[in-house]
Amino acid sequence: MAIVGTGNIARFHVEALRSLDAPVRIVAGVDLDAGLATSFCAAHGIPFADTDVERALTHTRPDVVHVCTPPGAHLAPARAALNAGAHVVVEKPPTLSLRDFDALADAQPAGGPYVATVFQHRFGSGARRIRALLDAGVLGRPLVARCDTLWYRPDAYFDPPWRGRWETEGGGPTMGHGIHQMDLLSAVLGEWTRVSALARRQARRTATEDLSVAHVSFANGAVASVVNSLLSPREESYLRFDFEYATVELTHLYGYGDDDWRVTPAPGHEESVTAAWKAGEHGRNSGHAAQFALVADAVREGSVPPVDTAEARRTMTLVAGVYASAFGGRPVGPDDVGPGSPHYENMRGDGPPWTEET
Ligand SMILES: NC(=O)c1ccc[n+]([C@@H]2O[C@H](COP(=O)([O-])OP(=O)(O)OC[C@H]3O[C@@H](n4cnc5c(N)ncnc54)[C@H](O)[C@@H]3O)[C@@H](O)[C@H]2O)c1
Repeated sequence: MAIVGTGNIARFHVEALRSLDAPVRIVAGVDLDAGLATSFCAAHGIPFADTDVERALTHTRPDVVHVCTPPGAHLAPARAALNAGAHVVVEKPPTLSLRDFDALADAQPAGGPYVATVFQHRFGSGARRIRALLDAGVLGRPLVARCDTLWYRPDAYFDPPWRGRWETEGGGPTMGHGIHQMDLLSAVLGEWTRVSALARRQARRTATEDLSVAHVSFANGAVASVVNSLLSPREESYLRFDFEYATVELTHLYGYGDDDWRVTPAPGHEESVTAAWKAGEHGRNSGHAAQFALVADAVREGSVPPVDTAEARRTMTLVAGVYASAFGGRPVGPDDVGPGSPHYENMRGDGPPWTEET
């Protein structure tokens, strides 16, 4: 593996890769900041440090490149990796826009190498259990859901120049933070059909929103309310699914274990739901390691590693839909953010109603 962008999240990648049962070797660390690349590689025993992706690819020939740069700097190293025959594991959000995402997906040759997006909350046991029970019919139809990302980021959080700006971060909490919860919502409920949303800049001096609120309809008939906030002093990530036969809730902040899930059967379904919930997969926390284990298996087997581009695109489309509805002042569907829409070109589209920039 090689790592491009040796800032904050890169450490989690190294720790997760080193924790896998089947060993992987990290052969290179690349950062525009030469001092950072060198110190990161020295601290983690990585043999090759460089500032140039192409040179690192040529010199170390990794099988997989982990792209841990800021969102606006994902596309170029990801394409370089694919061109060099390496799979890509790209941090969320994978690109700044749907247009760039499609360019990245199109750069995957038939048969691989492939692009996987980091959405680690799909891979804890609880998320895998809920999907297995849903597929088995134990939970019945999904009816209504809540998806709350109630986080707190003070003004100082936005000091790094790439934060809070459309050009470099692609959006506020909808794109950068709530995307984790919206991805899990989307992994459970599938295709969305319509979204009606508001976005506000309530309190932070950002160019992007610091709050969005949305109602989402899904093709399976379920509806969800979604809140993405960076203004919430009591922080919480909360997902709630009311199925016909049970309520399933997840309450955590940045990662969950089995104890963070709660299941409440509907009257008459106590035995079947409780037995299936107990018998389902347990013991794996959400986190980078849970996803990377499956990515490593897929790379060894030659299959498509998760989260593949079709799945990641659905989540990106929902994010674009929230902005399109909020800034257009009307409900929108997935077709409204396709090619030809300003929200396809970038998440902000023709822009929010506020004008002050950071
Ligand atoms: N999955 C998660 O839970 C999670 C959590 C935090 C951050 N992230 C994502 O990880 C990514 C990085 O975030 P971070 O907090 O580590 O940022 P960061 O600013 O701490 O680190 C980014 C690093 O990339 C380097 N860089 C910038 N452009 C580059 C380029 N073109 N080539 C090589 N290096 C370059 C910078 O010098 C910096 O060292 C973002 O996409 C962010 O959204 C994901």
